[in-house]
Amino acid sequence: MSENVYLEEFTIGRGEREGLLNQKGIVIWFTGLSGSGKSTIANALEKELHKRGKLTYVLDGDNLRLSLNSDLKFTEEDRKENLRRVGEVSKILVNLGVITLCTFVSPIRQDREETRKLLGNDYKEVYVNCPFSECEKRDPKNLYKRARNGEIKNFTGLDSPYEAPVSPEITIDTTNTTVEEAVERIINTLNL
Ligand code: ADX
Repeated sequence: MSENVYLEEFTIGRGEREGLLNQKGIVIWFTGLSGSGKSTIANALEKELHKRGKLTYVLDGDNLRLSLNSDLKFTEEDRKENLRRVGEVSKILVNLGVITLCTFVSPIRQDREETRKLLGNDYKEVYVNCPFSECEKRDPKNLYKRARNGEIKNFTGLDSPYEAPVSPEITIDTTNTTVEEAVERIINTLNL
């Protein structure tokens, strides 16, 4: 906890920024197994929103683990810290009025709930639902194979848990939904 630090108030706030952009900030949080389709859907959604003149940004698990979060591993504590930082960055972006897309495995329900608490009504959860067996079949980064061989420890769904959301705003089953359908559902449900 920070001591002897006080919150500074600034005159220009979120409303002024949103006014400039003519849009509302929101955080769309994609959770699901590695290979479930989070980044694919977020990428297509961002392209469509950009086409419609919206300012967006994607915070992606793999990308942030190569930069801001490169000091973190996949233990329970490090995943929690990963998401805590992402929550804080998202809070800055949403206060800028940006439509922020977060693609993180985010396997622990309590960690996601902390993020929801931090962001309040700005947080909208999208559960990208795809069975482990299907993700393993897809294995776009060859990680499942390496995890099975024991080369990767604490792999989500194998020797590390994935706790499915109980009441996400949206659930997308990527075994029977196209990327285009997913994008349309998200835009319509969240009124983007
Ligand atoms: S999270 O659990 O902390 O939310 P995050 O989304 O940042 O995970 O990173 C997950 C990505 O890291 C996966 O898409 C995968 O490419 C890679 N990865 C590497 N090791 C693991 C692991 N042990 N468990 C899950 N994903 C891993």
